[in-house]
Amino acid sequence: MAKKTASFICQACGAVHSRWQGKCDACGAWNSIAEESPAAVALPAAHRSGRKGRPIELQSLAGSNESPPRTQTRIEEFDRVTGGGIVPGSVLLIGGDPGIGKSTLLIQVSATLARAGHRVIYVSGEEAVEQVRLRAERLGLANAPVELAAETNVEDIAATLSQGRTPVLVVIDSIQTMWTDSAESAPGTVTQVRSSAQILIRYAKQAGAAVILVGHVTKDGQIAGPRVVEHMVDAVLSFEGDGAHQFRILRAQKNRFGPTDEIGVFEMTGLGLSEVPNPSELFLSNRDRGAPGTAVYAGMEGTRPVLVEIQALVVPTSLGTPRRAVVGWDPSRLSMVLAVLEARCGIKLGGHDVHLNVAGGFRISEPAADLAVAAALVSSLSGAVLPGDNVYFGEISLTGAARPVPHGPARLKEAAKLGFARAVVPDAKAKERGGKERDGGAPPIPLDVIGSLAD
Ligand code: TYD
Ligand code: MG
Repeated sequence: MAKKTASFICQACGAVHSRWQGKCDACGAWNSIAEESPAAVALPAAHRSGRKGRPIELQSLAGSNESPPRTQTRIEEFDRVTGGGIVPGSVLLIGGDPGIGKSTLLIQVSATLARAGHRVIYVSGEEAVEQVRLRAERLGLANAPVELAAETNVEDIAATLSQGRTPVLVVIDSIQTMWTDSAESAPGTVTQVRSSAQILIRYAKQAGAAVILVGHVTKDGQIAGPRVVEHMVDAVLSFEGDGAHQFRILRAQKNRFGPTDEIGVFEMTGLGLSEVPNPSELFLSNRDRGAPGTAVYAGMEGTRPVLVEIQALVVPTSLGTPRRAVVGWDPSRLSMVLAVLEARCGIKLGGHDVHLNVAGGFRISEPAADLAVAAALVSSLSGAVLPGDNVYFGEISLTGAARPVPHGPARLKEAAKLGFARAVVPDAKAKERGGKERDGGAPPIPLDVIGSLAD
């Protein structure tokens, strides 16, 4: 028998190295390489018989033109992000900082499904059954027929799961605490996490039960260890939020059965997570209308418009290199907007510190926020307060032109619904009228106010 040699595996990305080294060449992480025995995940011989690998013609698959069947949790914000409910036999990974509310969310999802008559098993590797029960009691869910188990060995879990009616949902909280007999490494190592996930994924596919794996995220936003699981699962969701605000955002990063740009918004209350059906109202609730440097941005998150306040503070710098601090937006996008303002509009910001904040801890990924950012920056620099009933959206190009962005009507409708009267947006018809896009020179940014929303 061949001698088993230990390998050195990066705990951040799963890359295998032949010897120990301080830095992982694959992902650049320092001190992330640990010695592990190789995994011996062998399938029983029956699984390897040639007959099972017979190809099936795509056409012959019944119902192939239908969307997958789904079990709705009736927690709408959760269903939206998953693409309409959980798909039987699928495996979902939910990542998030410790303490963000992953266990709370999943016990609520489990309880709702269990109350609807589905069999749900919640396996906790972190808390004792009593702790999970106490939490459910605090959330008013103690009477929901969720089956709780405190277990960390996946072989034991698989044995438990195979008894009785096939569950609709199995929650594994968390994948980092799971271990399997087939791998010799310590629990929490990449080999253990990967092997345990493999066994649970195989269980999900064979039994047709949906499995949700919880994964903790490290400081830099990676799903630690479980990052190696990301490509094995059907969907990866992240649960975000910051300690200073009580709302949480569930975002799909990968989804084989649905869109990846939808978000679910929740608010952490004393009674667990409650759904926020209209996030714009929440994000704009503490708006300071009379201050310069704020502009309301009409954004889109998937199919849903979300209005948020962008705050800018532009102050003369006392440093050689001015500070550029951004919270909730892409710093390189801010640099670009600043450069365009300077080069195309003659607005000099080189001697100023610039602080940009998306109110409420929200994170924007769209370039459509450029115009709102520019408006907030100019407002702060000049000290002029922007009209409180204006919204802004549009992309700014390097030439200084403001470009139209998708979903204009949906953004305008949401703004009108929330009482905004006017929108400052790029003129979509400028080209049709024969006016070519302006490139350089002053006045460069065409801000065309397109009508009043009120009428
Ligand atoms: P938890 O779900 O344990 O987080 P995770 O599983 O992601 O580590 O959430 C823990 C936090 O949530 C904790 O700091 C307290 C807070 N919390 C509430 O504010 N209200 C509640 O009803 C519950 C259950 C928790
Ligand atoms: Mg937890």
